Amino acid sequence: MTGVPIALARRRPDPADSWALVDRFGRVHRDLRISVTDRCNLRCIYCMPEAGVEFLPRHELLSYEELARVAAVAHRLGVVRVRVTGGEPLVRRGLESFIELLAGIGFDDLSMTTNAIGLARRADALAAAGLRRVNVSCDSLRPERFAAIRRGGDLRVVLEGMAAAERAGLLPVKVNVVVLAGVNDDEVVDFARFARETGRVVRFIEYMPLDGSGEWERARVVPSARVLETIAEHWPIEPVPAPEEDPAAPATRYRFVDGRGEIGVIPTVTQPFCGTCDRLRLTADGALRNCLFAREETSLKPLLRGGADDEALARALRETVAAKLPGHGINEPGFLRPARSMSMIGG
Ligand code: 5AD
Ligand code: SF4
Repeated sequence: MTGVPIALARRRPDPADSWALVDRFGRVHRDLRISVTDRCNLRCIYCMPEAGVEFLPRHELLSYEELARVAAVAHRLGVVRVRVTGGEPLVRRGLESFIELLAGIGFDDLSMTTNAIGLARRADALAAAGLRRVNVSCDSLRPERFAAIRRGGDLRVVLEGMAAAERAGLLPVKVNVVVLAGVNDDEVVDFARFARETGRVVRFIEYMPLDGSGEWERARVVPSARVLETIAEHWPIEPVPAPEEDPAAPATRYRFVDGRGEIGVIPTVTQPFCGTCDRLRLTADGALRNCLFAREETSLKPLLRGGADDEALARALRETVAAKLPGHGINEPGFLRPARSMSMIGG
């Protein structure tokens, strides 16, 4: 991993960077995830309960203009990548207009995490609005199992969505697979083959204690190391070398030695990567969060709706980053889940 020291050195706060979003541990924040809604047209077993979910009332949501204003301030403070998430972002009306607002700010990267329902119809418009690429959630390549995990949804529609995204130039398409022991862990090799055959980057995600039903248990977590071993038994893989590899990215990337395709693992639980985290999150109702697992957050709504200037917003962003803890603590005794689950934060 020859390039890592250089990359880390680059991340150390520079005195000339004093305007930047640096926390107490020297982590420079360059990545903002914006959730546009907590609603979704699916109910994945690892994310939302089947029934009885309460959603935010419409007036609680920030408008696209308000969300984009925060994004613009973050951009001034050194954020270079934005990801639009949900819930399911495509269920919020007029998402293309929001993408256009974000594209106008001038980020290096502008992506979206989606379940791809409705993506086939909208990929062109999203690309035209300035979206660069998409991450599509897809946890099984078997239609019945797909529907069982997601409690609805049609695998074919999702695969069509991926194809349409590619035709629209939303590249590379990344495929998010939450691996659940005894549910879909027997499909790791199928997904690796899928990555090789389609050129889509499949990312195996460890199940995190962020499900809406509070049913997470460690026994359901499939360690990324095991996923990699299983794949390597079929096709030799090697780490993607620096500088191509971004040390702050949550996924550890591997490519097939024969040059056909790429996979990644996101080992949040078994090998936390908090030490290089550069991410900040804004929820649909305007809460700024310095970690998926944060138990405290800063509501920007009073500032946004109370006439605060950009300086005040910038201060709130800096303070939220400064308060970031060294890690999520999942593996420590006394770990407490955040009050919000994944669909209320945005992945
Ligand atoms: N653990 C891991 N990943 C999750 N996601 C949703 N809930 C969980 C969880 N409990 C992922 C989805 C989606 C992204 C938004 O977050 O797969 O790709
Ligand atoms: Fe919806 Fe995504 Fe959660 Fe599934 S993981 S219920 S698609 S928000």
